[in-house]
Amino acid sequence: MKESILSEQIYTLRKRMGLTQEVVAEKLKITPQSVSRWENGQSRPDIDMLPKIADFFDVSIDGLFGYRADNLRILGYEKNYKNHEVYWGNVIQRIERKVLKFLPPVKPLSILNVGCGEGQTAIFFARNGYIVSACDTSEKNLEQAEKNAEKFGQKINFFKADIMNYEIETNFDIIFACGAMQYVPLKERARIFKMFQEQTNAGGLNVVNAIVEKSFVDPAPNWDENAFLYETAEIFKYYGADWKFELMEENYFDCEVKNIPRHSHCMDQLIARKILK
Ligand SMILES: C[S@@+](CC[C@H](N)C(=O)[O-])C[C@H]1O[C@@H](n2cnc3c(N)ncnc32)[C@H](O)[C@@H]1O
Repeated sequence: MKESILSEQIYTLRKRMGLTQEVVAEKLKITPQSVSRWENGQSRPDIDMLPKIADFFDVSIDGLFGYRADNLRILGYEKNYKNHEVYWGNVIQRIERKVLKFLPPVKPLSILNVGCGEGQTAIFFARNGYIVSACDTSEKNLEQAEKNAEKFGQKINFFKADIMNYEIETNFDIIFACGAMQYVPLKERARIFKMFQEQTNAGGLNVVNAIVEKSFVDPAPNWDENAFLYETAEIFKYYGADWKFELMEENYFDCEVKNIPRHSHCMDQLIARKILK
């Protein structure tokens, strides 16, 4: 049987929650083989099971049949985006300026900004002469990002995509994924980092950061249940012999987003360059 949107959705939702087929089977009181057959399209769940499956994955039944991840809820954050014009702020971080140093736009250079939020990073790069594509799962954020880009007279290719099931089809000079990699559960990370690397032009950069678990840093009060911490130095380990680290660092910083008590994060970040032998 051909794979269906339903099978794709069940697979994506399970992966997104970082669960094995066995765990889903146990919760739904079915066999792991049934989950496997649903996911590879060999069979479909019984109609009576649909409310239970939808409830388990916290989506509507429509959502189970929806196109890709469009019906996934970004729990918690989405409502904040709706209530604020700019939720994530518009401060350009030091790492963005470093990109200008390590790969200045002396010729047309393309950049993909993954998890672009309200577009401040994308706009910064566009204003500095890069050709920018930027994606996010949140429609509200993308709408705001479009508006913000317009204010600065910048043309940016904003599009909706979920990093978990987005296949990057063209190559970029820079893949910039800062602030969004916590939405990738451990099991999916190697695959997504590999995709970033394969889709980067020789001489190009990957710019990535991740929030790291530390026993002495309290969990953030607004930590999303779809977000996962990284191990110390984990992001560096995804980059092998063909990559030169231009920057590797671990920082602690106070996080201030609207209406959330001030809290701290530990963050690892890197700028790595793909070397052509
Ligand atoms: C912490 S914010 C960072 C926004 C921006 N990069 C910044 O630094 O200001 C995380 C962003 O990632 C987006 N996001 C969450 N899950 C995602 C996913 N699976 N794929 C792509 N973007 C995602 C959120 O909607 C949000 O805009």
